[in-house]
Amino acid sequence: MKQGKQAQGFANRLTEYGDRDFALFLRRSFARSMGFSEEALDKPIVGILNTYSQLNNCHRGFPELVEAVKRGVWQAGGLPLEFPTISLGEVFLHPTSMMIRNLMSMDVEVMLRAQPLDAVVLMGGCDKTLPALLMGAASAGIPAIAVAAGPMLTGNYKGDRLGACTDCRRYWAQFRRGEIDQVSLDEIEGQLAPTSGTCAVMGTASTMACLTEALGMMLPGGAAIPAVYADRLRHAEESGKQAVELIHMHRTPDQIMTEHAFENALTVLQAIGGSTNGIIHLAAIAGRLGIRLDLRKLDALSETTPVLLDLKPTGDFYMEDFFRAGGMRVILHELKALLHLDVMTVAGKTLAQLLDVPYDWPSWQNVIRRTKDPLQSKGGLIVLTGNLAPDGAILKRSTATPSLLNVRGRAVVFKSLQDLATRIDSPDLDIQPDDILVLQNAGPIGAPGMPEAGYLPIPKKLSGVKDMVRISDARMSGTAFGTIVLHISPEAAVGGPLSLVHDGDMIELNVERRQLNLMVHTGELEDRKARQAAKPEPPVRGYERLYWHSIQQAHLGADFDFLRHAKLQNL
Ligand code: FES
Repeated sequence: MKQGKQAQGFANRLTEYGDRDFALFLRRSFARSMGFSEEALDKPIVGILNTYSQLNNCHRGFPELVEAVKRGVWQAGGLPLEFPTISLGEVFLHPTSMMIRNLMSMDVEVMLRAQPLDAVVLMGGCDKTLPALLMGAASAGIPAIAVAAGPMLTGNYKGDRLGACTDCRRYWAQFRRGEIDQVSLDEIEGQLAPTSGTCAVMGTASTMACLTEALGMMLPGGAAIPAVYADRLRHAEESGKQAVELIHMHRTPDQIMTEHAFENALTVLQAIGGSTNGIIHLAAIAGRLGIRLDLRKLDALSETTPVLLDLKPTGDFYMEDFFRAGGMRVILHELKALLHLDVMTVAGKTLAQLLDVPYDWPSWQNVIRRTKDPLQSKGGLIVLTGNLAPDGAILKRSTATPSLLNVRGRAVVFKSLQDLATRIDSPDLDIQPDDILVLQNAGPIGAPGMPEAGYLPIPKKLSGVKDMVRISDARMSGTAFGTIVLHISPEAAVGGPLSLVHDGDMIELNVERRQLNLMVHTGELEDRKARQAAKPEPPVRGYERLYWHSIQQAHLGADFDFLRHAKLQNL
C-alpha cells in the first residue's frame, strides 16, 4: 500500500515521528529486511497471535497449526505475520492462571492496537487463553477470528479410558481413599495426557472453544476437532482464508458478539453441561463490549434448556467422541428453536444461514442426545442467591448429587487455602458426612486470583464418602464434579457474608428456591461484622497492586474495572 491510499497493511498505525511519509518509508525498509517482496508488502496484513510456549503443553501443536493458518492467509491474498503474546498453561502457573488472564487480555488489546494489522487470528486453547484473546480483541475492535488448539485424545490404563482431567481427579480421590497405590498412580500419571491439545473432557478449555463457536467467533465445527487430527489443520487453513475475508467485510467483533450472541452462548453452555468458569469468562468478554451478562437469564435458561451432551464430567464420553458424533453443528441444530438465529458469524453468514443446510440426525451415535430425549431435562448451571450470596453464586447441578440439593447442614469452616491444607485431613477435624464444608478467602482478592480450589477434598476421616456440599468464593475446574457452590459474591475478603460464617452455624442450600442462606440471627451477624479484623494492606508494588485495586467480583467477570466498556464503568 503506497502513501495516499486508505491506510491498510504497513501504512496502518504508523510510528509517530511527526512525518508520516518518513514513518512509512522507514517501516517498509525494515519490513523488506525480513525478505518480503514489494508485492507481499502491499497485501493486507493478518496477524497470527500465537500462544505457543514450552510452558503450555496444551499448545504443543501450535507451530504446525500456525503454518496451516499462514497457508490460508496467503491463498486469500493476505500477508500473514505471526507474533507472540503471553501464554497461560493452566497447571504451570502460580498462584493461578486466573490472576494473569486480565494481564494477557491487556497485552492482546494493546498489541492489536499498536501494530499494523488489518485482521487477526486468535490462537488459544488452554483455559484462560481463549477468554483473554476474545477480551483483548473485543476491546481492540479489529476483525478477528479464533482458532483453538483442539482437545487431546484419551489415554488408557488397564483397559480404562483416561482423559485429563476428570479422570485425574477420579484416580486421585481413589489414591486418597487408599484404593490404589503409588505404583498405579505413577502409571496413570503417564497416560492421562497422551497427546498435545486441551483437556479431553468438557472442562473449561473445551467449554470456551464451544462457546467461542456459539458466539460466532470461530468457523463452524472448529471447537471439537482433536488437536492431532488433519481436520484441525484444514480448519486452521480455512480460518486463515476467512481472516482476509473479514477485512473485506469490515467485520469487527462487536458486530458478532452481540447481546443475542451472548444469550446463545449461555444456552449452549447449559446444553453442553459446560464449565462454571464459562460464566465468568462470558461476563468478562461481554463487559468489554458494554453488555452486562444477566445471571438471572442464565438461571432461567437452566429451566428451559436440556443437557444434550453425554460428556465427562457430566456424562461418560470424551471430546474426540463429540467430534465423531458431529460436534457443535449437531448441538446447534438440536437447539435451533432456543437460539437467536439472526446473529452474524465470522463465516460471513448468520446462524440461520449456517444451519440452513440439509441435516440428518446422526442416529448411529449416542454422545449427543436429542432435545426430546436429553441426558438431563434441565440445564447444568444454576444461580443461587440468599443472605450468603447477595450478588449470586453458581452451582453445577448436572454434576451434583441429587440428594444433596436441598439440605441444611452444620458449617465446618476453613479460613483460607493454607488452613484447608493444614486441617482437612487432621484426625482431630470435627466432621460428619452431612456437614457443609466452607472455604473462605479464596475469591478474586482473597487468595488472590480466585483459584480452582472450590473442589474441596473430602476429609480422609470420612473414608468412603464420595460427595458433600462444599461452598466457597473460589472457582472450580471444569473437569471437576460434586455438589459444589462456587463464585459466592461478594467474596469473604471484601467483607461478604461468607466471611461471617463460623464453625457450627447452620447453612441452608435449597436448589428449588435457588437459596443459599446462613441460618444465623441478623443481630448476631451484625455483631460479627463489627468485630471483624481490619482488611489486609494491598501489595506495595507491581502487577499484584494493580490487580488488588482493580479486580471486580465474580458476577462481573473478575475483569479489571478500567478495562470494562465505558458504558459499564459505573455499574
Ligand atoms: Fe490446558 Fe486443561 S490444562 S486445557
